[in-house]
Amino acid sequence: MLNWITRGVRLSRQQRWFTTEVSKGFVGAVGNTPLILLKTLSERTGCTILGKAEFQNPGGSVKDRAALGIIRDAEENGRLKPGGTVIEGTAGNTGIGLAHICRAKGYKCVIYMPDTQSQEKIDLLKMLGADVRPVPAVAYENPRNYNHQARDYAETVPNSVWTDQFDNTANAYAHYTSTGPEIWEQTNGNLDGFICSTGTGGTLAGVGRYLREKSNGKVQVWLADPPGSVLYSYLTSGGKLFERTGSSITEGIGQGRITNNLGTEVKYLSGGLHIADEKSIAMLYDILDTEGLYLGASSALNVVAAVELAQKLGKGSTVVTVLCDGAYRYQSRLFSKKWLQSKGLLEAIPGHLIKYAVLD
Ligand SMILES: Cc1ncc(COP(=O)(O)O)c(C=O)c1O
Repeated sequence: MLNWITRGVRLSRQQRWFTTEVSKGFVGAVGNTPLILLKTLSERTGCTILGKAEFQNPGGSVKDRAALGIIRDAEENGRLKPGGTVIEGTAGNTGIGLAHICRAKGYKCVIYMPDTQSQEKIDLLKMLGADVRPVPAVAYENPRNYNHQARDYAETVPNSVWTDQFDNTANAYAHYTSTGPEIWEQTNGNLDGFICSTGTGGTLAGVGRYLREKSNGKVQVWLADPPGSVLYSYLTSGGKLFERTGSSITEGIGQGRITNNLGTEVKYLSGGLHIADEKSIAMLYDILDTEGLYLGASSALNVVAAVELAQKLGKGSTVVTVLCDGAYRYQSRLFSKKWLQSKGLLEAIPGHLIKYAVLD
């Protein structure tokens, strides 16, 4: 290493730490994300804890895969033609993924969202060229809900598609054909468990089904659930209860119903873990301190769940989870002492990690 500038070097294959393939545009850069060994947590547990680095997708989240899968499906079955319009009701990462892909493929993009969302989110979507339509935040049962408005508007626009991320199973299929096979290859099939939380359920169902089938049922697939979601009670009551208790600071996850994306896989799940926000926020700071990973709250929750599942499966087990996005989109909250205090979460952060809460 010392005088490589003056002496010159010849790199062996092992010394290279980059891939050399050219990706075709934004779309070609989606997927093929690293699988990261979380060293400290693995050492602490005596297990192998692995995180699929979905924050490295070009739009910054796991939802780039779903957005691309849904758009490809609409193109393939002739519902979306050149110059068409993509319409979705979303407050988050799916809209960002769709907006990027629409620019890359020359489609118009219309996003309906509740008017309670932050100005940053609205501005980002606008910067990506989307036509953003904030509408009053009303319950799903109300026909003026942002999802229904997106669907209704799409019916009036020729050559348009309502992408319907919750119930359009092209979403889970994108994970079945990309994220799942990538994890299988990256681990050489040596894994015992996969666990993640769900919004649409696309990631859990798509990856879960692939790993379940490929391993002949050897890989256990588990659900991680935040407070305020009904899925944990549904699973643990054998499908009898839909209990929604509490609320969560996590964004993009938690569900009040069984979506079409989750529907076919839910009966194969080995179990569920309920993860309190106190544990998620402590992990968010811990993993920043020990691994240098700057993760959003759903990723932190997933990592807590992966550790708990590994402990259940026993020493030496290997568990994979999903690192959905980075903290960048939430930093004004997650690193603000005042905001954490208002949520009763400041005390949950261990004393030696509080130095990372740099915002007042
Ligand atoms: C930050 C974040 N984490 C997790 C998820 C859940 O992914 P899925 O919709 O595949 O269940 C989402 C979905 O929008 C998300 O935005």
